Amino acid sequence: MCGIIGYVGRRPAVPVVVEGLHRLEYRGYDSAGVAFVRNNSFRVIRAKGKLGALEEKLASEQTTTATCAMGHTRWATHGVPAERNAHPHCSNDDSLAIVHNGIIENFQELKAELAAKGYVFYSETDTEVLVNLIAECRKDEPELLRAFAAALRRARGAYAVCLMERNAPDTFYAARMSAPLIFGLGTGENFAASDIPAFLPYTRKVIFLDDGDIVRATARDYDIFRLENLEPVAHEPQTVLWDMQAAQKNGYRHYMLKEIFEQPRVMTDVLAGRISEQGDSVLFPELDSLPVPVRLHIVACGTSWHSALWGRHLLEDWARIPVQVEIASEFRHRDNFLFERDEMALVISQSGETADTLAALRIARERGATVIGLCNIIGSSIAREATAVLYTQAGPEISVASTKAMCSQMLMLALLALYWQARRGNTDESRQIPRGQRISALVSLPAVLGDALSAMHEKARELSRKYAKADNFFYLGRGHCFPLALEGALKLKELSYIHAEGYAAGEMKHGPIALVDPAFPTFAIAPDDPLFPKTKSNIVEVQARQGKVIALTNEGTDLSADDIWTIPRLPSPLAGFVVLPALQLFSYEMADYLGKDVDQPRNLAKSVTVE
Ligand code: G6P
Repeated sequence: MCGIIGYVGRRPAVPVVVEGLHRLEYRGYDSAGVAFVRNNSFRVIRAKGKLGALEEKLASEQTTTATCAMGHTRWATHGVPAERNAHPHCSNDDSLAIVHNGIIENFQELKAELAAKGYVFYSETDTEVLVNLIAECRKDEPELLRAFAAALRRARGAYAVCLMERNAPDTFYAARMSAPLIFGLGTGENFAASDIPAFLPYTRKVIFLDDGDIVRATARDYDIFRLENLEPVAHEPQTVLWDMQAAQKNGYRHYMLKEIFEQPRVMTDVLAGRISEQGDSVLFPELDSLPVPVRLHIVACGTSWHSALWGRHLLEDWARIPVQVEIASEFRHRDNFLFERDEMALVISQSGETADTLAALRIARERGATVIGLCNIIGSSIAREATAVLYTQAGPEISVASTKAMCSQMLMLALLALYWQARRGNTDESRQIPRGQRISALVSLPAVLGDALSAMHEKARELSRKYAKADNFFYLGRGHCFPLALEGALKLKELSYIHAEGYAAGEMKHGPIALVDPAFPTFAIAPDDPLFPKTKSNIVEVQARQGKVIALTNEGTDLSADDIWTIPRLPSPLAGFVVLPALQLFSYEMADYLGKDVDQPRNLAKSVTVE
């Protein structure tokens, strides 16, 4: 959940590292720090709060001579957000400094062992234990690479770390185990970071490190070894296609707004190469050699879980595949879960690094299931460990609240439903809308949304001014709109800290409706689909209790509400592709109007690599 970066090269290293931290800040932002060597001793500058606080401290530092440095931006796990717990951490003898993303699970045990040997700890972190363990191992292994590996072999848990040595200020070391770490190869400079955008201004040539890899890097050279035996390994560098523009705001006030507006482009990218030339079939060559699942278990967290709930409707309706959707943190602890023959798991994760989803993938694989990964980040852990991976092509998503990633996941799920429908071949197409018609509807989505977004933004802004005083909100929807109600409520609470609950509209009368009063508004998702009359009845029930209602619907529906928000008409259940941006824009405008930190809401992190 934290972000780390290491740099060595021809430029002043500290500004490069701080710039990289800005691009990693979405991973955590309760404190930050950098380390570099000056006059043969470590300078470790750390500050509680966002990066601005660190930059203020750095302003009075002489940093220009250092050509190797590392930095960290933190989302607290062990130890409260405070300067003493911020990284980097140094060994007691000040010979080593480290930055770390992850959790060393056996740190208490290691700490006790080191304390007995006289080590003193100034923080509550597991990281400070690790750096002292390396220093201790060095007593037997003078070569730092060997001592580093020996210490890591004793650590249980997850880590991506960068390590520097006071007496060799032109080299950094890095290692990964179950936490993301990418090595960037520049010209006369090298990088290691938790995510590619951290060094994207300098190089697009990367190596996706494997679990158990250790790197030693200087400006002109690098070597990668295996942790278990220090045998060298050769990884082929890859070139990433993202450019810097994709990781910048491009004139938008926030990344979130930019990413909402990118959704038509994202849909075009998702569709590219997935539709046959004749426009009558969907292509997933990655899956051609796998059987069609007889049952699909979709596992995910957060917004990706909402995509899964939405996709279930299409997979069941179009492909006639029974689908079970599971929250990864629950699924991973269902010890007796068994996969029957030809049942499959599909794990959905924007980052491809969410700890619970990754654990679910591993469990499913251990139990013999074929696992398909649906990920955005190329080379991520889930992408690498799945039996087959499908990339969602959303590009870098920087805002902590996920937007365009969900849109890309939904479209991939719709395409998958059509692909499996065709492969099964035995679905009764006469009862269904012809596949070609559905494909055309999907192909038209980017244009429909592209035309609608500006007006939707206007409407969202207008409504936010009217409803910003609310302390609570209900989001209601039925069928394919129920997952969207959950997502709408999630977006509102995570961005504006207004309490919001997403509910299946028909379930309201079983308890929640007791909360409705004139100060507790409801956001009803009511497109003109077969369930509209039922949702309308639930809206009327809310109104009968003096509840105010915003209704998201289509032109011409017979509905009265305090605010009617009409969106373009799409065949059910594709309405989700315009409902989703409406919900996103409403939450965005509410949060921005209330002066909240839209891109980096409190207490959250984009990539949750802890349990
Ligand atoms: C975090 C993020 C959410 C995201 C969830 C799952 O909580 O803040 O936006 O939906 O993790 O992330 P994943 O990368 O697995 O989709």
